[in-house]
Amino acid sequence: MNDVLTVRGLSVTVRETALVSDVDLTVGAGERVGLIGESGSGKSLTALSILGLLPEDVRAGGSVRLDGVDHELVGADERRMSRVRGRDIAMVFQEPMTALNPTMRIGDQIAETMLVHKTLSKPAARTAAADLLERVQLPAETLRAYPHQLSGGQRQRVVLALALANDPALLICDEPTTALDVTVQALVLDLIVRGVVDRSSALLFITHDLAVVATVCERVLVMYGGRVVEAGPVNEVFTRPRHRYTEGLLAASDLETTSRRLTTIPGNVPPAGRFPSGCVFRTRCAHATALCEETPAWSGSEAEGFACHHPAAQGSLEGVADA
Ligand SMILES: Nc1ncnc2c1ncn2[C@@H]1O[C@H](COP(=O)(O)OP(=O)(O)OP(=O)(O)O)[C@@H](O)[C@H]1O
Ligand code: SF4
Ligand SMILES: [Mg+2]
Repeated sequence: MNDVLTVRGLSVTVRETALVSDVDLTVGAGERVGLIGESGSGKSLTALSILGLLPEDVRAGGSVRLDGVDHELVGADERRMSRVRGRDIAMVFQEPMTALNPTMRIGDQIAETMLVHKTLSKPAARTAAADLLERVQLPAETLRAYPHQLSGGQRQRVVLALALANDPALLICDEPTTALDVTVQALVLDLIVRGVVDRSSALLFITHDLAVVATVCERVLVMYGGRVVEAGPVNEVFTRPRHRYTEGLLAASDLETTSRRLTTIPGNVPPAGRFPSGCVFRTRCAHATALCEETPAWSGSEAEGFACHHPAAQGSLEGVADA
């Protein structure tokens, strides 16, 4: 499996404040990787850095490379990034209207996306647009509709069709189903998975919903305080978490409630720039000791490891229930 996305030492800062620090992340061809963590953990900023869509006052550092693109994405100018976006990396965000033009018919929008990046004739692009809509299970009449004539779930499926239009090497989804009705969520998630599997695209999927990650992703990274604190295969991390933050997140979720007591992580996520030195989780961690005032080193490989001075015992589900 070749690596599609390679992120090394990614940092995001606003003025003197670090919002994201030292993120390493690799997504292989056809691999589906989840990024989870509470609100304010730095998930969206990580995604926006990869896409070159950070607000003006926010700076990215480190390295983001994409297979097939011969230049560094961190610091690339907008002309280069707009070529990469839509062709090599596509995205689906929470609110579909931000990706749609309210004054253009759906068919024209999809055809335009393909015409901008591909040498397709206009009739060929229209036929391809109809095929794409069929793939996301929307009727052919949708081609002539305007965005406001569609439901939220239909709009998000149009955004997915737009995202898949140019067979991107990487699809980034940031809470793509959070705003949708639960009955529509499952369909959209299924279409996302099918869309990337059919094209062997890599998927980076951001959500706060652990159950969604469990159905969509093979591997997961857990973020807190702008740092990756744990990574590994979903079935490992969700059944045998090592980092105390992951353990708390799982205990607070309703995954496998039969074996876990539902609880919450004490305290709140501090605002950006107010995380403690050393382990960023130590002000909320029941296992913290004086050692945790020092930044814990990463233990394991980039694909599977954690950074905690007092990790949960390997293979201990009891550790979760008692947290
Ligand atoms: N432009 C900005 N200027 C200053 N701080 C920012 C800016 N954008 C984001 N932040 C802060 O950076 C932190 C991480 O934000 P981010 O949007 O990445 O969180 P998230 O993990 O995606 O959370 P959520 O689950 O709520 O979407 C937050 O504390 C946020 O307030
Ligand atoms: S390093 Fe210490 S404070 Fe941080 S999660 Fe591990 S035990 Fe808790
Ligand atoms: Mg976010």
